[in-house]
Amino acid sequence: MSQAATMPAPPPTRLPRHLAVIMDGNGRWAQRRNRPRTLGHRAGAKAVQVCVDYCLARGIGALTLFAFSSENWNRPEEEVGALMKLFLRMLDSEVGELQRRGVRLSFIGDRSGFPETIQTRMAQAEQHPPAQPCLALNIAVGYGGRWDITQACRSLAGDVAAGRLAPGDITETLLGERISLAGLPSPDLFIRTGGDLRISNFLLWQLAYTELWFTETLWPDLDDAVLDAAMAAFADRERRFGLTSAQVAGGAT
Ligand code: IPE
Ligand code: IPE
Ligand code: MG
Repeated sequence: MSQAATMPAPPPTRLPRHLAVIMDGNGRWAQRRNRPRTLGHRAGAKAVQVCVDYCLARGIGALTLFAFSSENWNRPEEEVGALMKLFLRMLDSEVGELQRRGVRLSFIGDRSGFPETIQTRMAQAEQHPPAQPCLALNIAVGYGGRWDITQACRSLAGDVAAGRLAPGDITETLLGERISLAGLPSPDLFIRTGGDLRISNFLLWQLAYTELWFTETLWPDLDDAVLDAAMAAFADRERRFGLTSAQVAGGAT
């Protein structure tokens, strides 16, 4: 028997099944170059491609990107307008190619504030998903974690008012079924670029047991090396979900 045959196989690198990202730092990226913030957003759109390519190449099955928060509506009108234009341009130029590559696109968030054209394009992009998607790509736009929990509660309250559900029958599972991303495993890994150590009203419910990783890298500077560093940190974490280390290791309880 050859030596190679007797060697134990290297342990597979543990990758997240679902990666959630706060793409932050576009404005500072531009300001450091004495350019308008909107240029940073355009550069940030290219970094989205880097992140999507990375997930497709590594077989990460789900990616949720925070693109525009419910609070971002309060930014200067000019910046919000530029973001809307960029979003529309991205919808027009990228959706077809993403679908050809096996990406299933979904948008999460309150769409009501978006111009009609964008709402229509979002709905169109969600139609005709690939038969066998290799990546579920969720874009959070007009999204807030508090909005998400509120809309799930409103939906359950509707069932209660209609007599279909008793308040006492509401469980975490039932609420979880009404929350955005319900069909996917919870994010295993969260990444925030831009150096700030906060959640900024992203997936408040869904991140309950997600591993958090932060980097000073500004979003437009994202590259494979940054993502590799996040993956390496994730692979080293022990996820206990409230148990003891011994329990997780399958040893004594
Ligand atoms: C993230 O970058 C993109 C959006 C919130 C739309 P920012 O625009 O927040 O960039 P910084 O944090 O000001 O540098
Ligand atoms: C979070 O970034 C939202 C997005 C990246 C879309 P912000 O720049 O809005 O967050 P804060 O204001 O620094 O918390
Ligand atoms: Mg920011």
